[in-house]
Amino acid sequence: MEKIQSAIAKARATRDANAGISANAGLNTGINTGINSFGAAQILPTAAAWAALPALHLDGADLRKKRIVAYAGGPETVSFDVMRTKVLQQIRANGWRRLAVTSPTAGCGKSTISVNLALSLARQPELRTVLLDLDLRRPSLAKMLGIHNRPSFAQVLAGKLAFDQVAMRYSEGLAVAANDGPAHNPAELLHGSSVATALTAIETQYAPDLMIFDMPPMLVSDDTMAFIGQVDAVLLIAAAGMTTLKEVDACERELASQSNVMGVILNKCEYMGKEYGYTY
Ligand SMILES: Nc1ncnc2c1ncn2[C@@H]1O[C@H](COP(=O)(O)OP(=O)(O)OP(=O)(O)O)[C@@H](O)[C@H]1O
Ligand SMILES: [Mg+2]
Repeated sequence: MEKIQSAIAKARATRDANAGISANAGLNTGINTGINSFGAAQILPTAAAWAALPALHLDGADLRKKRIVAYAGGPETVSFDVMRTKVLQQIRANGWRRLAVTSPTAGCGKSTISVNLALSLARQPELRTVLLDLDLRRPSLAKMLGIHNRPSFAQVLAGKLAFDQVAMRYSEGLAVAANDGPAHNPAELLHGSSVATALTAIETQYAPDLMIFDMPPMLVSDDTMAFIGQVDAVLLIAAAGMTTLKEVDACERELASQSNVMGVILNKCEYMGKEYGYTY
C-alpha cells in the first residue's frame, strides 16, 4: 500500500505544480427551472419538494449482504463516517456540490462506496444529499437499494421526466434516483445539453448540500469523461490486488485535467483486518 500511496502523492504533486484547475471547475451557476412535473415555472419550497418524494424503505438484512452498512451507526460504519467528514470538509472549503465516484476498471467498489457514503451523510439530519446513478450501461443502485417500479434517472437526464417522477427519499435528507436498466444511448445522452439543464433543475428545486454521482469505470468507456465537466470533484476508487499503480496514475491525471481529484480510496484491503475494510 505504501507504494500506491507514494505514487498517488507523486502524481498529485506534479498536478499541483502544473496549476490551473479552478476550485469550481465544471460548476454550473446558472439558474434554470428545467423540467418540473409541477410545471416548468413552478418551484416548490425546498422542504415541500423533499417531503413530496416517495419514501424509500430499506431492508437492513438485504443491505448487509451487499456490504451496505452505513444506514446505522456502529463500528462497521466508522470508516464511512470518517470519509463523510473528510468529504464535507473539502466541499465546504471549496464550495463544491457535485462529487463523482469512479474507478479505473469495473468492480472496484464505486457503487458500494457511493451508497455507504450517501447513507452516512443521511444520518446527519441537517444535510441534504442526492445520490444519482450515472452508470447508464450497467446500473446497479436500484438493485442494491431494492428500488422497484420507478423509471430511470436516464430519462431525467434526457429531459423526458422530472426528478420527482424518478427519485425516492430515504429518511429526511437523502434522495436517490436510480436506473431500472441500461440506457439505449449512454454516450449521446451524456454528451447532450439536456444533462446540464437537468442537474441545475435538481439543484434549484432541492438545494442539496451534495450530489453524489455513481459513475462507470473510466477505462471501459468514455462515459465518465463525457460527464466529468458537470462535477466539481471526483473520488477515485482503487481496489487492492486488482487496480495497478499505472491505472491509478493514468486515471488521476486524466481526471485532474478536467476536474478536482478529491482523493483516492483504496478499497478491499483484506490484510488490514475486518474493522478496516475500507481505507481513505
Ligand atoms: N471493501 C470491500 N471488500 C470486499 N468486497 C467488496 C468491498 N467493496 C465492494 N465489494 C464487493 O465488490 C463487488 C463490486 O462492488 P461494486 O458493485 O460496488 O463495484 P463497482 O465499482 O460499482 O462495480 P461496477 O464497475 O460494475 O459498477 C460487489 O460484490 C461488492 O459487494
Ligand atoms: Mg457500480
